Amino acid sequence: MIEAASARWRRLLEEWTIPGELLDAVPDSPYGWSPELWKRRAQVACEQGIQTPTSDRVRSLLPASGTLLDVGAGTGRASLLHAAEGHAVTAVEKNPDLGEGFRQRAGEQGVSAELIEGAWPDVAAGIDLHDAVVCAHVVYDVADIEPFLSALFRHARVGVVVELTPEHPWSDLAPYYRALHQLERPQGPTYADFVQVVEAICGRPPHVEIWSRPGQMWFESWDEILDHYGKRLVLPRDRWEELRELLAPQTENEKGRLFVGGRDRTIVTVWCRTAP
Ligand SMILES: C[S@@+](CC[C@H](N)C(=O)[O-])C[C@H]1O[C@@H](n2cnc3c(N)ncnc32)[C@H](O)[C@@H]1O
Repeated sequence: MIEAASARWRRLLEEWTIPGELLDAVPDSPYGWSPELWKRRAQVACEQGIQTPTSDRVRSLLPASGTLLDVGAGTGRASLLHAAEGHAVTAVEKNPDLGEGFRQRAGEQGVSAELIEGAWPDVAAGIDLHDAVVCAHVVYDVADIEPFLSALFRHARVGVVVELTPEHPWSDLAPYYRALHQLERPQGPTYADFVQVVEAICGRPPHVEIWSRPGQMWFESWDEILDHYGKRLVLPRDRWEELRELLAPQTENEKGRLFVGGRDRTIVTVWCRTAP
């Protein structure tokens, strides 16, 4: 069952591969992360409050002075709030720019947290067990899901909490790929496929909560929007004006912050205890 569920996950993710001829026509990778946009998202998450189903679940797994491991930590959106609540946080992040963003945000918040730069599960052997493990918005990046998840579970004394979107995070880009490149994007995998992998690894169904919050990614200018979406959509710069026309009706200005797409975001929290 583990082999079938994880092979399905890999196959569905591989369907997202972008055709080589599109990639060859642009100078930048579509897969980059901007530390600035992620720091802003972490900042908005703080403004929205520290209470979400994910943070509540992490708290319920953490004993007093318990330890938390955040895998794919980015700039610390899922864990630095718990460092501020007195928990020892270890973050694993493979992208050095995001790792630097994590250090900066920890400094700004006046909390200390250990950062391990490297890819999970490659670095897992050198990391101690923690009480709780959190992993937010990473799993759709992980084709080799079984070793990744098994290592999360092996590192959790009490339990693991995973946050993800119901569908692949690039699903929102499908209409633009269709309009700009006449390219259909896949439908899966979804959180339901992920839940099946977790169930296969844990031997029982995990808990699942579906909830929503306002989107957190905002832009300062149209230049920033076109840079972000132009790269994600592998669009040569001389076509960015076309993109602007497509995105303009979907863009809202909220007190100087530009948001693209509907404001509500559906989020899924999946968790499983490793100890009773
Ligand atoms: C979408 S961001 C989410 C960041 C953060 N967890 C949050 O929710 O704000 C995904 C992050 O996971 C990191 N990442 C992806 N795969 C990873 C891996 N195998 N090991 C460590 N970091 C990984 C990426 O570099 C990126 O910073």
